[in-house]
Amino acid sequence: MSKYAVLGNPVSHSKSPLIHSVFAKQTNQEMSYTAIPLEEGDFDGFVKSFFAEGGAGLNVTVPFKENAFAIAASLSPRAQLAKAVNTLFLDDQGNICGDNTDGIGLVTDIKQNNGIDLIGQRLLILGAGGAIRGALAALVYEQVATITVVNRTLAKAETLADEFASMTEIETLSYEALQDTANHGRRFDIIINGTSSSLQGEMPQLDGSLLDSGCCCYDLMYAASDTPFVQWAKQQGAALSIDGLGMLVEQAAEAFALWRGVRPNTAPVIAELRGQA
Ligand code: ATR
Repeated sequence: MSKYAVLGNPVSHSKSPLIHSVFAKQTNQEMSYTAIPLEEGDFDGFVKSFFAEGGAGLNVTVPFKENAFAIAASLSPRAQLAKAVNTLFLDDQGNICGDNTDGIGLVTDIKQNNGIDLIGQRLLILGAGGAIRGALAALVYEQVATITVVNRTLAKAETLADEFASMTEIETLSYEALQDTANHGRRFDIIINGTSSSLQGEMPQLDGSLLDSGCCCYDLMYAASDTPFVQWAKQQGAALSIDGLGMLVEQAAEAFALWRGVRPNTAPVIAELRGQA
């Protein structure tokens, strides 16, 4: 039986073991997948012995995505861009390979599950942390019209823009400058919330006029009930107000496909997790 696990801290709440067990059943794969909490400092030793003892693959979540990036001997282009890794596996020579499936999970959820075309769209992105870095590593390939990143700490957004400069131009704004541009009639087609403000039950102050007609609002976070950003988007009459559950399942499907060479059907898993199956 092939062994897989997700490493994080905390990780007991993770839905990944459930998602991967459903994928395994659906595609007849003999595999186990568990959630393993690790202390800071134990990551490298654990990963090396996991693979040395025949482990087949790992997912990595907060706070170890940068550690996973550092331990990988080879990296996919999107993991290099994100500077973070959420999926580890061995190549034929036994080298540890790192990939980042978060961004492609987001893009697949937006395009395939929600039927939104990204080509030519004006994107507004809230936040400039690790979650946004992963998202941008896939969004930059999508031929959107413009990408604007707004962050409380503007310098972080500027650093991000510099790092992605070889791929695409990213405009950076403070929340004050965003308000100013909203007052002058600036509108967006897609707004993605990648701030961790929902954890404090908040969301950044945003002017509802930023939403153009047909605007889609997407929160990278998800929760059992609507996140503050999803609540706000619904109040503003967004055409679509989506949380990150679909992204979670799609990033898992992408990792599963890398490991097992077969892509599971995600729709029933998303429905099951939403309690709609
Ligand atoms: P993650 O890995 O989840 O992206 P992170 O790297 O700590 O976490 O990034 C958190 C992001 O949420 C940052 O962009 C942060 O803004 P700052 O860079 O200015 O700190 C943003 N954030 C957190 N709380 C926020 C709040 N209450 N309002 C606006 N932005 C917030």
